[in-house]
Amino acid sequence: MKLIEVKDYQEMSQVAADYLLSKVKKSKNVTLGLATGGTPQGLYEVLIHDHQQNGTSYQYVSSFNLDEYIGLSGKHPNSYYHYMNDNLFKHIDIDSENTHIPSGKAADPAKECEAYDEKIRSHGGIDLQILGIGSNGHIGFNEPGTSFESNTHIVELAESTREANARYFDSIDDVPTHAITMGISSIMKSKEILLLVSGEAKQAAMKKLVEGKISEDFPASILNQHDHVTVIADEEALALVKGLEFLNR
Ligand code: PGA
Repeated sequence: MKLIEVKDYQEMSQVAADYLLSKVKKSKNVTLGLATGGTPQGLYEVLIHDHQQNGTSYQYVSSFNLDEYIGLSGKHPNSYYHYMNDNLFKHIDIDSENTHIPSGKAADPAKECEAYDEKIRSHGGIDLQILGIGSNGHIGFNEPGTSFESNTHIVELAESTREANARYFDSIDDVPTHAITMGISSIMKSKEILLLVSGEAKQAAMKKLVEGKISEDFPASILNQHDHVTVIADEEALALVKGLEFLNR
């Protein structure tokens, strides 16, 4: 796991964007794994700015999002479908045919999960997966206790996750209770992973991650077993982590 230490959220977003852009420029039909939430918002802003200023094209890029709430249609302002359009897709030249997000309204969610993994496979897998981390160590919506062998599946959201995401809803009661998420095994099949970590709320998670104890109780810990993970973390997130040298192994 390689660590890039940055000053703050803004620098994290810029460094992540530079990293992603270098992939897009090198291979124009790259397959990206994308995330939602507060963490990647700044990254997407930099990508939009770059597209407008420098014309970087996403015409042949494909994307797969990590997760979606069950019960929210793409039109719902808090669906991740809506988030992605609003925060990135509508501002760049990516072809909507090439963007993939699990459907929160699928008639048969279990079938939707299987089909999603199959679609990723048929694209030759994800080249670069962008990840955030929950304060409980979740990646995607894989909450503590999720099997490391899991493929895309239906999850019941942890109360802490619903509380963390209630800021986007009128009240916590409006936060869906279930979601579809790429599984841990699906995520681990990505050729490369970029994990973004910012702010005080992630300090404990960051510490646990770098301590390196691999356990399903802390889903992100599995990333220690992936060959090609880069963590971009800011000073606040790293405040509890000492002896960083053991990270760059
Ligand atoms: P956040 O969420 O980016 O909104 O902090 C990250 C996550 O829950 O994975």
